[in-house]
Amino acid sequence: MTRISSEVETGSREEMRAQKDLERIGALGEEVKAAPPRRLYIKTYGCQMNVYDSERMADVLRPLGYGLTDSPEGADLVVLNTCHIRERATEKVFSELGKLKAMKAETGGRMKIAVAGCVAQAEGAEIMRRQPAVDLVVGPQAYHQLPELIARAHRADGEALSADFAPEAKFDALSAGGAERQVNGVTAFLTVQEGCDKFCSFCVVPYTRGPEWSRPAAAILAEAQALADQGVREVTLLGQNVNAYASEIGGLADLARALSRIDGLDRIRYTTSHPSDMRDDLIAAHGEIEALMPYLHLPVQSGSDRILKAMNRGHTGDSYLALVGRIRAQRPDLALSGDFIVGFPGESDADFEATLALVEAANYASAFTFKYSRRPGTPAAAMSSQVDEAVKAERLARLNALIEALRQAFNAAQVGRTLNVLIERKGRHAGQIGGRSPYLQAVHLDGDERLIGRIVPVRIDKLGPNALSGALEPDRSKSFEAA
Ligand code: SAH
Ligand code: SF4
Ligand code: F3S
Repeated sequence: MTRISSEVETGSREEMRAQKDLERIGALGEEVKAAPPRRLYIKTYGCQMNVYDSERMADVLRPLGYGLTDSPEGADLVVLNTCHIRERATEKVFSELGKLKAMKAETGGRMKIAVAGCVAQAEGAEIMRRQPAVDLVVGPQAYHQLPELIARAHRADGEALSADFAPEAKFDALSAGGAERQVNGVTAFLTVQEGCDKFCSFCVVPYTRGPEWSRPAAAILAEAQALADQGVREVTLLGQNVNAYASEIGGLADLARALSRIDGLDRIRYTTSHPSDMRDDLIAAHGEIEALMPYLHLPVQSGSDRILKAMNRGHTGDSYLALVGRIRAQRPDLALSGDFIVGFPGESDADFEATLALVEAANYASAFTFKYSRRPGTPAAAMSSQVDEAVKAERLARLNALIEALRQAFNAAQVGRTLNVLIERKGRHAGQIGGRSPYLQAVHLDGDERLIGRIVPVRIDKLGPNALSGALEPDRSKSFEAA
């Protein structure tokens, strides 16, 4: 990738920085001091938080001479940034490690393998025991310790495992020099909150990411400013419960307002929200802050009050619908998205019908759907009356069909409208460009690639299976509709 060559070009600066970093780390294995550049391959599973974290890991390792490469072949360091949310996600990690083990053997052990993310946090010691090819394990709050862990892994006696819960230390270290953020493109993720105190009975996140914690606003604003300086026009604020954000500036609405004042940062999104943390000022912000996009991911999980209670969600189907009504009163064109679990223990046909009814009533623009997956250590795993896999599969198919119909209807309603599209990339065909509508729909059109990074009015004329297409409306002003 281009980043590697740019690192070669700026070699001396990088080397100086690398040297400083090595001194800071202290007693290092000799091998780590060996000449940069080195090749780093990161494979990311799971949610956007992991995507953000993977970028930050690359930032932390860049001063040590590591440049990103897009294949594990020939890499000096392979990082698997893992997800623990469902059984299949975890299984994938172990099967990937099996493949990497063979690849590592071909390099005579030169390739180092690191496991990061939520599986690392939950099963760190177990990973090291089950797969000796793994050199180091690093939990989500310990990425700033990566250089030190790599150094330890290079020593023969190295026990390189860190799974501390200390997000403050991580973000402090990431914000302070040596890990400057490098972005590619005009949109970026920005983590503002980590962890979860909600303890939904099915979910591992409170155990893998620890308690709710918010970054200081000053650090977020500085990072956002740096992103804007690099040409980023849209940020998506990330948190496991992003709307529980609370800091010296106030809540998420206050943060969004402050961010909207940064020159060039024209679009703000946030994900994922919990219904219980949807405060009045945040609801009002959807009608007040122009940069806040009319798209909201607000998971409800089920439409049955009995199941919601067993899930420990802290809301009912009706309270959720009332909340959605209040947000739409501020922003009538809101595109609503959600998450659903089918086949939670004890879910009857009637419970599932209640979910279908809620989906229709809430009129989603899109949603993510999952079969319940039993996670060891969570309360729901121990519940009796686990639902049969075949029943889960059938319910999932019915739910997906309904959501797909709603999605198509939402998208079809855009045909004939003019939407402001942030142009993000070249299209697949020559002369084509692509971007996103305010509602997060992919939009293709013919246009000059110099429009990348600009928000342009596009008249939508066609609905494809996964994207809208349209044509530039050069005369229309940027503020024609939702920014
Ligand atoms: N913090 C977010 C999402 C966390 S995980 C929230 O509260 O919405 C993303 C989604 O994965 C969840 O919303 C849920 O729908 C799904 N999920 C979590 N645990 C699961 C499990 N054990 N089985 C199936 N789906 C699960
Ligand atoms: Fe998991 Fe619930 Fe927390 Fe979301 S709110 S991360 S689903 S425990
Ligand atoms: Fe997965 Fe961890 Fe995200 S379990 S969904 S990577 S918070």
